Parts: sequence; C-alpha cells; structure tokens
Amino acid sequence: MSLSRINPAQTKAWTALQDHFNQDNTSDIKSLFKSESNRAKDFSIQWNNFYIDYSKNALSKKTMDLLIDLSKEVGLSEAIAHYFNGTAINETESRAVLHTALRDKSATAINVDGENIIPQINAVKAQMKAFSNDIINGVKTGYTGKAFTDVVNIGIGGSDLGPAMVVEALKFYQNHLKLHFVSNVDGDHVQEVLKGLNPETTLFVVVSKTFTTQETLSNATTIKNWFLQTASQKDVAKHFAAVSTNTQKISDFGIVPAHVFTMWDWVGGRFSLWSAVGLSIALAVGYDHFEEMLSGAFEMDQHFKHTPFEKNIPIVLSLISIWYANFYKSETQAIIPYTQYLSRFSAYLQQGIMESNGKCFDRAGNRVSYETETVIWGEPGTNSQHAFFQLMHQGTKLIPADFIGFKKSLHGDTDHHNKLMANFFAQTEALLSGKTRTQVDQEFAEKGTDALVASKVAPFKVFEGNKPTNTLLIDQLTPSALGSLIALYEHKIFVQGVIWNIFSYDQWGVELGKQLATNILSEIEGSTKGQHDPSTQLLLKIFNS
Ligand code: F6P
Repeated sequence: MSLSRINPAQTKAWTALQDHFNQDNTSDIKSLFKSESNRAKDFSIQWNNFYIDYSKNALSKKTMDLLIDLSKEVGLSEAIAHYFNGTAINETESRAVLHTALRDKSATAINVDGENIIPQINAVKAQMKAFSNDIINGVKTGYTGKAFTDVVNIGIGGSDLGPAMVVEALKFYQNHLKLHFVSNVDGDHVQEVLKGLNPETTLFVVVSKTFTTQETLSNATTIKNWFLQTASQKDVAKHFAAVSTNTQKISDFGIVPAHVFTMWDWVGGRFSLWSAVGLSIALAVGYDHFEEMLSGAFEMDQHFKHTPFEKNIPIVLSLISIWYANFYKSETQAIIPYTQYLSRFSAYLQQGIMESNGKCFDRAGNRVSYETETVIWGEPGTNSQHAFFQLMHQGTKLIPADFIGFKKSLHGDTDHHNKLMANFFAQTEALLSGKTRTQVDQEFAEKGTDALVASKVAPFKVFEGNKPTNTLLIDQLTPSALGSLIALYEHKIFVQGVIWNIFSYDQWGVELGKQLATNILSEIEGSTKGQHDPSTQLLLKIFNS
C-alpha cells in the first residue's frame, strides 16, 4: 500500500475546520483585509517569475493553519515522496506516476520495476530532437522530395489536449510548420482538416498511448486512405510517425520503426505532453523550446518537493480549493487566463483535473461522504468578461476563480497590454470590493439622475463583492514559464487527490460509455440486437428509421 487510507472527514483538522467555518465569519473578505493589516503581503508567494496573490479569498490565517494541519494529518509529505520516487501510486492500474521523471534534470536513476528509466527517457528525447530538427530543416522530406509544410496530430484526450494547448500557447515561438489537430471521431472534423492539405507536404503524427482508441484509429485510417489516393503504400513510411506504448499495433499500421516514438505506462495520458506525446510541440516550436518548457516544469517540481507547505504554491492553492469545495460547498471553479495564447488552457485542465479527481470512491473502495472535484471551466479574459462575468459578479453561485496574467506581452504592444492588464486587475478588485447601495446612490446623485428613476434602478446596480479569486501574475509567457504553470496545476491535482483519499491517476469512469458505444455501433450497423432503457431504445429506432 503506497498512499494512506485516511478519511479526511474523520481527521482532527477537518473537525477543527468545520468548527472554524461554523463559528468564524470568513466570507467577508473585505473585513478580513481590515482586521489583517498585512494581508496582501502575508497571503502572497513570490517564486521565480511568479507572484501569487491569494489574499482575495474567504479565509483567514487560522483557516490556512488548519488546512495545513489537514494536509499533514493525511500524510502529504510521505505521499509526495512516493509520487516522485516511482512508487506505484496508481494502485488500481498497478503503475507508477512518473511524468515528473520526464523533466528531471538532476536524476541519474529512477527505478520502475527494478529498471532505471532515465536512459530510456533520454533515448526517446534524442530521437525527438533529431526527428523534429530534420523535419523543420527540410532534411526529411515528403515522397516527392518537397519539404514538409504541415503537421497533423491525430489523437484524443491527453494525446490531443496537451499538445494542442501548448502549440497554441507557444504560437509566438512557432516556426514555418503549420500544426493541425484531429481528435473527434466526427468525420466532418477530419474532412475539414484535410480540406486544405497537400499530401506531398504533410506529416501525420498518430498519438495514442494504447493505440486502441476508436477515435484515433478511425481518424488515422481515414487519413491514410486519403493519403493513398495520391501516394503509394511505400510513401507511408515518410509521412507517418506514431507515439505509443503499443509498438506492435503501430507496426501493423505500417509505420516504420525509425518513426515510432515510445512512451510508457508510468506516464498518464493527461500528463503526457512532456513525453513523445509532445512531438507536435517540438515540431511547432523547435526542440530547444520544448526542452525549455521541461526545465520550467522541473523548477516547479523542485519548488513543490522542497518548499515548506505555507510557501508552497501548489499546496497553498490546493488547500484553498479544498476549503471552498468541502466547507463552502462550491461546485465550480473558473480559470481565466489574460492572454489569448492560453485559449485552450481551461479545456486542457478540464481533462487533467476532472478526469483525475472526479471520483466518488475513496482509496479503500468506499463511497466518500464528502465532496471531491468541482467543475472546471473558463475562457480567456477579456472575452469572458463580455460573456459569463455577469454571473460571477451578480449571480447566486460561489465561483472561486484563478486569474492568470503576465507582466509583459510578447509582441510588446504596450497600449494593448496596459488595457488588457487594467481589465485583469479591475475584475478581481470588482469581485472583491463590489459596490454598495450607498455608492450607487451617490453615483446617481453626482450624475443628477432623476430621483425616481435612480431609486428604481439602484437595487440592480449593487454588487455584493466578496467573490474569491487568486491572482497568478507571471513575468512573461515563455516556454519555461508555461512549463512551470502546467506543473503547478499537475501538483495541485495530486495534493487534492491525496487529501480526498481518492486515486487520481486512473479513469475507470470513461469506460462504460466506450463499452456501450461498441455495442450500439454493432446494432446500428445491423449485426446485433441489444436491450436498452426505453428512452435509448426509442432514440435508436428514430435514428435508424
Ligand atoms: O478518455 C480516456 C482516455 O483514456 C484518456 O485518459 C486518454 O488521454 C485518452 O483516452 C486517449 O487515450 P490514448 O492515448 O490511449 O489513445
């Protein structure tokens, strides 16, 4: 047994937290700022080029102390040691969880089943470097001798979201290769992507940890057939590469060994962008930028491993999320990046966070009696301000939100960046401070608004405030900063899973739907007849009619 089986709700710290929640008013954040004079500074962490301000939260110093007690009582320190040293903490699949090994710049040996995995990692990295350089520089060409212009990543879930998010995030550093992503089994998706492509100059990277995923295999087969309309079977070797743990299945597909990039069972799909799953990233921005991203992640790993809990960014942010989910019973959490480059960041984190911690059975197999993961969502600011922020400011739901912004823009347009960041700061201030009825009345009076009109509209212009946010202010969106940011959220997932006493690294919850889809497909195709609930039965009848 690698991780403890401590029911967090039965710890002393949990009881103390519940008493504290019931007795002390922590929801009036504005008052907390008045009573804790140094709050802005005390509730902040400066690390490398990151400044984390968590002072605008519905918690006091006492709350933080009790949350840290909770993390200690459930054995977080021991769990962190297991996480990094290759213990099989993914117990239901008997696997280690070692995405951190992929970026470990210091390790000479990390053993899995008695074998040192560092030489294997380095070998695949060397292969990725050589391959991406050759494609970018036109040393490897397509079947008619032309240099590649386009790359299509064929994968889904972790084999799509990570690379797609990072390629978009690092677009500023992108070379001449144009990246495309095909994920959905919807044939219209693949056809739309193929529409603009030239088979002579397009490279296809099939990414699937298992190489059994229906969506990816269907898309890869459709694409290969499309390719063979103009090229011949022997040309597949030049135009297709694959990333997987399942090398036998790849060779059945016809991909040559030199273009096969290995990954390992100890890398979870949703944490795999640091492995050869990141090949599309290396192709888009060059291998050196890919390595810089890994270095940034490694720095965050070191921070997480060695920093006392009170100043440890992933731990502090996890504890804040636990406080809202388990005591305030908040159901959701927003992640709002103030850069268009991070437009896929929330979608990426939805898989990372919700596939990991969306669990209702504890590590002993019992139904939990407390809440686990919240719904994660978000869109870049300022677009989201003009979409769903109304609900955040004046709705009835408690929505803790992470605001992620950068001190410097990449293109250096100060005018735009100042406007962007003014909005960034204004929103968290507005969410905190709100606007009282007195302030609203005063504004009307200053404008000379008719008293009758003013009194009618005034109630609707009140903002209650006290809406919690974290501010993550980072120097600039470099590959290294992005690596640190992603690693931060990865560790946050881990910490919350440890505290909730759940297994974060399996995903059995995605299996039932896949199984039923296989059965329904054979019914739709007419080869079998199945039993369904009345609603599904009728829907299938209408679909087939
Ligand atoms: O949706 C379940 C899942 O297993 C994810 O965890 C994974 O990232 C995705 O499917 C794709 O799997 P594969 O890389 O094996 O094709």
